[in-house]
Amino acid sequence: MQITVGIITVSDRASAGDYADLGGPALKAAAEKRGWDVLCEAIVPDDKKRIQETIRSFSAQGCGLILATGGTGIAERDVTPEALREIMRVEIPGFGEVMRAESMKLTPNAILSRNLAAVIDDSLVIALPGKPSGAVECLGFVEGAIPHAVALAQRKPTSC
Ligand code: MTE
Repeated sequence: MQITVGIITVSDRASAGDYADLGGPALKAAAEKRGWDVLCEAIVPDDKKRIQETIRSFSAQGCGLILATGGTGIAERDVTPEALREIMRVEIPGFGEVMRAESMKLTPNAILSRNLAAVIDDSLVIALPGKPSGAVECLGFVEGAIPHAVALAQRKPTSC
């Protein structure tokens, strides 16, 4: 099953050009290494409406998997979880649980990530930590479930 991916970097500073986006390219490389097709990429500020309109646009363009990196923490501007929850059909708690549990083995700060996954429109959307290595690590922790979850999000027939 071909997985078409959209990648969203959520960062005030990267979107303002204050520093280079490293998370987006890291996730693009990780996706392509898995044979997935990266169709859409964007850098947006930590703004709920901008996150939401980008997710909806990517889903409408056919991205069955949308990876957002950044804004899952407890800083004032961290709103990615709220952005997803406002427009999701269902949350898939297991993704956040596994990403935190596995990440705790790497850093005690993993407890601070409010990362999660949800079905939005026709896509599986996964909110990953902003640190490039953290985003790639968390993707790896849940990748086994991604093909099936994407098929279900796209209402494709599955064998389960
Ligand atoms: N998870 C993994 N696997 N690796 C990491 O480096 N960073 C932690 C946490 N989860 C991290 C991680 C830190 S330091 C924070 S503040 C939270 O993710 C939230 O990061 P974000 O606000 O950039 O999304």
